[in-house]
Amino acid sequence: MDRRTVVSSVLAGLALPALAARREPTIGGPCEGCDWVFDGQPAKLASRARIAPVAEAGAPMVIEGVVSSARGLPARGVVVYAYHTNQAGLYPPAGNRHGRLRGWAITDAQGHYRFDTIRPGAYPGRNVAEHVHMHVIEPGVGTYYIDNLEFEDDPLNPRRRGAERGGNGLMLPQRRDGVWQARRDIVLGRNIPGYS
Ligand SMILES: [Fe+2]
Repeated sequence: MDRRTVVSSVLAGLALPALAARREPTIGGPCEGCDWVFDGQPAKLASRARIAPVAEAGAPMVIEGVVSSARGLPARGVVVYAYHTNQAGLYPPAGNRHGRLRGWAITDAQGHYRFDTIRPGAYPGRNVAEHVHMHVIEPGVGTYYIDNLEFEDDPLNPRRRGAERGGNGLMLPQRRDGVWQARRDIVLGRNIPGYS
């Protein structure tokens, strides 16, 4: 299925589950662990997904944003994949390198996606800021990692910007009714080497 067919299928509201299950090539340079983005991916995805289960210990957090093209148009049918540590800063074992706390969401017609999860803990005993690893799976184009989601209120945060792959991943979360709100908008292909 070429890119034009994919786009037309998406516009017709068809075949999103099939698209979601498709393996795309890794682009954008070396990517340790990129193969794992497809491991265990559900056949059917929605724009709202859960990473940590409801019973997971930790402060609830919502991660959401809009995926857009370089021209600023909302991108429908793009899979956003994210994984992170638990409250203790560990990746709970789950038979893959990304651990148990991982999820996939597929953007809706407005380019919107949302994850319900917990705020991750920093690695214990190390000077590494809290972070959420994020990847994009773009149908007909490829898969690539984007800048981690990181938090400006984290004392471990070095307050530096990353490479801004996929746009800026550093933001200041707000806590409303006990739930952290973290916004991570994504610009497809931004600062991704070889993206076309
Ligand atoms: Fe990590």
